[in-house]
Amino acid sequence: MLELRGLTAGYGPVTVLRGVDFAARAGEVTCVMGRNGAGKTTLMKAIMGIVPVSAGTVMLDGQAIQDLPAHLVPGKGLAWVPQGRRLFGPLTVAENLDVGGLIRGNRAKVRDHVLALFPRLRERLNQPAATLSGGEQQMLAIARALCLEPKVLLLDEPTEGLQPSMIALIREAVLRLKAEGVAVVLVEQRVEAVLRMADRVAFMAHGSVEEVAEAAALHPGARQFADFVGV
Ligand SMILES: Nc1ncnc2c1ncn2[C@@H]1O[C@H](COP(=O)(O)OP(=O)(O)O)[C@@H](O)[C@H]1O
Ligand SMILES: [Mg+2]
Repeated sequence: MLELRGLTAGYGPVTVLRGVDFAARAGEVTCVMGRNGAGKTTLMKAIMGIVPVSAGTVMLDGQAIQDLPAHLVPGKGLAWVPQGRRLFGPLTVAENLDVGGLIRGNRAKVRDHVLALFPRLRERLNQPAATLSGGEQQMLAIARALCLEPKVLLLDEPTEGLQPSMIALIREAVLRLKAEGVAVVLVEQRVEAVLRMADRVAFMAHGSVEEVAEAAALHPGARQFADFVGV
């Protein structure tokens, strides 16, 4: 389990996260919602060690990791799919997956498992990533992260700008990862998508998690969506 206590972090002199408390459990999808600028992306960067943490703790299965240099964090079992994907465009699908699996030694079994989740990628292994559709690129970004065999998967707005059929495929993959016991942390702004995937929802505003709700206790007209997302 991933557990954040009092996490404070920012960019140079600018503090963005102000004492974030947050938890994500294995086999659950924890959604993070909040308006633009609330600090959702910064939260993921702070967990990954990319934004320096000035106070508070990030615990992964009981081990404090907030002071680890960023390049050592993935090895602890945390994978992050950044907003906007950031694939290696000229590299093929297969090569992008190889990059994702480097620190785990690129085992064929892991790659097969990942490709079973996204069969469309298997058909396009030798195609440059830049020539994939937006949805396929998002699948590849997730697949690349999964080559790490993460315990915790951080997804930053993975369905942004995608067509409904692609969103459905990504949703199915998220639910399968949950069933496999991965702790999925999903930044997602669409209420209907959140209600279909989340176990719990953390609502952020002004750099902190202000409320956490069980998804089962939410509905499309719930107060929290109006308060924290403005829908
Ligand atoms: N690289 C950066 N340098 C300075 N401030 C930043 C940087 N990235 C984001 N911020 C600021 O941090 C705040 C939170 O941004 P972000 O985490 O991207 O929010 P969200 O993902 O919820 O939209 C915003 O006020 C934003 O302007
Ligand atoms: Mg963001």
